[in-house]
Amino acid sequence: MKTIDCLLTPRIESENVKFDTLIGYPLDVEKVICDENRVVISKDKIVLKGKGKDEVALAEGYIKQLSLIFDGSLPVCSFSYYSPAYRYRGFHIDCVRHFVTREELLRIIDAMSLVGFNYFHWHLTDDQGWRFPVPGYDKLKEISSTRYIYDNNDQKHVHQGFYEREDLEYVNEYCKERGITVIPEIETPGHAEALLAAYPEFGCTGNKIDVQNNWGVFENVMNPSSGELWEFLDAAIKELASIFDGPFIHIGGDECPHVQWEDHPGCRLIMEENGLKNTSELQGWFTSRVSSIVKKYGKRAIGWDEVVDAPEIDKDVVVMSWRGLNGARTASSRGHNVILCPENGGCYMDRYPSKESWELGNLSLSIPKDSYDLDISMKELEEERRSLILGAQCCVWGEKLHSGREMEFMIFPRAYILAENLWLGEERKDWESLKKRKDILGLISWKKDILCNPGKWE
Ligand code: ACM
Repeated sequence: MKTIDCLLTPRIESENVKFDTLIGYPLDVEKVICDENRVVISKDKIVLKGKGKDEVALAEGYIKQLSLIFDGSLPVCSFSYYSPAYRYRGFHIDCVRHFVTREELLRIIDAMSLVGFNYFHWHLTDDQGWRFPVPGYDKLKEISSTRYIYDNNDQKHVHQGFYEREDLEYVNEYCKERGITVIPEIETPGHAEALLAAYPEFGCTGNKIDVQNNWGVFENVMNPSSGELWEFLDAAIKELASIFDGPFIHIGGDECPHVQWEDHPGCRLIMEENGLKNTSELQGWFTSRVSSIVKKYGKRAIGWDEVVDAPEIDKDVVVMSWRGLNGARTASSRGHNVILCPENGGCYMDRYPSKESWELGNLSLSIPKDSYDLDISMKELEEERRSLILGAQCCVWGEKLHSGREMEFMIFPRAYILAENLWLGEERKDWESLKKRKDILGLISWKKDILCNPGKWE
């Protein structure tokens, strides 16, 4: 029996590979949802059989991989493959700190589709920018999309970027064709300085501020008692819900200082009227209110794990556990669905993958093997709580990465490695087998012109 190595399965055991019989690609491709996972490449036809839509999408990923390996042709062969261990297999891209062009995004999305990722979490707003239009709020483009940088000689430089509605629609369709669902994110109530630069009336002080040009966590946050803010959030969520046909909208929730809320009369009134004991409970109130707008437009909210620092929020909110796994522990104990993306558990791809002086990256070390070692099943939890874990995602943040191309270099190979962890799960994953396929990963990336960090894996 001959074998072909591919990404994302220990080894494709091919029952009938004739390497001397190569056929042109693309051919007529038939996709069938049925009771087996099998790719059949015969002389005149390709049949992609899968037990569900995710499986068929991965089968398509396999034939794209093979066509790269075989220089545009495909070997006549037939092979089976596994179903995914987790139903949520995501990747997050920060397009705010540095703008990522549509073309750069599509390159990354296409590469992710080769290995079974099925959710693209698109970080569209933050202190340093707001990157999509909301009808009636033209200052988002005029003001919030641009930040000014002063160099050592006090010379002014501009960093600007904005997606039009047509860009969002295009990315949505592009993802859909690859079996990927987009999750757009609006940061609330913190990480909102770019919005407040254009609309100071949505904040607590009403002061005019600039779009933020430093990295970190900032005190200017949304004002829960501003009626104009709630009108705006309704319009922004409505707009996203009308563009993206996936089930989720991400509402942020992380790193929100409460200092401006403490003595704010409007915030105090809400607290009094709703029996909220402190500003942590006020943030919980805020989360549930944003979640109810998301629901009004037919979607479900996801929030970073700070949303469960509040003692009670809407149970339908899905919680993304990024500050380690404590968020997952708390959220699952309270009945929330959970997605894992621990910053120090192999999921933050902006962290440097080795201590070599030439590495790009930020904050701390995250070696490729960490992405394989993450136990997504969280064996420590009892069965009922484990069943609430939907899966995991990798995140790439852009403070220290200046373009989509630099992001690529950070994302790969670690995202490929996490993808295999997500698809195969604890029972099937096998680090030694994956390491043997390192060359294939390099080859596919090289042929696809995807930057892939060649560094050490463990
Ligand atoms: C995050 O990294 N602040 C979610």
